[in-house]
Amino acid sequence: MITLEDIKKNSQILQYIKQTEKTLSELSFTDHGLRHLELVAERGRQIAKAVGLSEREGELSAVAGFCHDIGNFLSRSHHNYFAALLFHQIFQNDFSPEDMGILMQAISNHDKQQEDMAFMNAVSAVVVLADKSDVHRSRVTVTDIEHIKKDIHDKVNYATTESSLKIEKFKKRITLQLKIDTNFCPIMEYFEIFTERMMFCRKAAEFLGYEFGLVINKFRLL
Ligand SMILES: [Fe+2]
Ligand SMILES: [Fe+2]
Repeated sequence: MITLEDIKKNSQILQYIKQTEKTLSELSFTDHGLRHLELVAERGRQIAKAVGLSEREGELSAVAGFCHDIGNFLSRSHHNYFAALLFHQIFQNDFSPEDMGILMQAISNHDKQQEDMAFMNAVSAVVVLADKSDVHRSRVTVTDIEHIKKDIHDKVNYATTESSLKIEKFKKRITLQLKIDTNFCPIMEYFEIFTERMMFCRKAAEFLGYEFGLVINKFRLL
């Protein structure tokens, strides 16, 4: 099985990431490029280990995490499906049919609508938690503060100065811990855009046998 390290050297993947960065920066989206992908891959591996998945599932989580957003350069809508199909096209001879199925499912599953949120394997659940927990000031790509204030995604991310995922194996609890500058952005605005995301995280945690919690500025909200 090839590993994340091999995938990081693949020129086609790197090109799609570069084009994704360019496309989404034209659209003034938050970061979906190398910074985000490396974080999701790393966090995915850590979550998999912390909840007791196998080393192979940890590697698959890291690989799917690194490749989940590569479809954005083709289209923002349905980018999850494009990413899964592009991934298959590049690496079809490099994974067993079983692993390829899991990887494609984990990549395509990361951006489902409420009625479609379901998990068929643990790797998909890990990738959702790793992806949806990346809320942070460093994700904002525009520098104009007036522009940041007008775009709610930029505003919420910019206001988030600390973000981490705490996994308590014995309490069976996964908690997203955030520090949000409420002078810059009321917490209500976080829920305005991320309620569905939090529900997705809750389903993902439940699939892994955990409860999902959310703590903002030391207050437990979920
Ligand atoms: Fe995505
Ligand atoms: Fe993402």
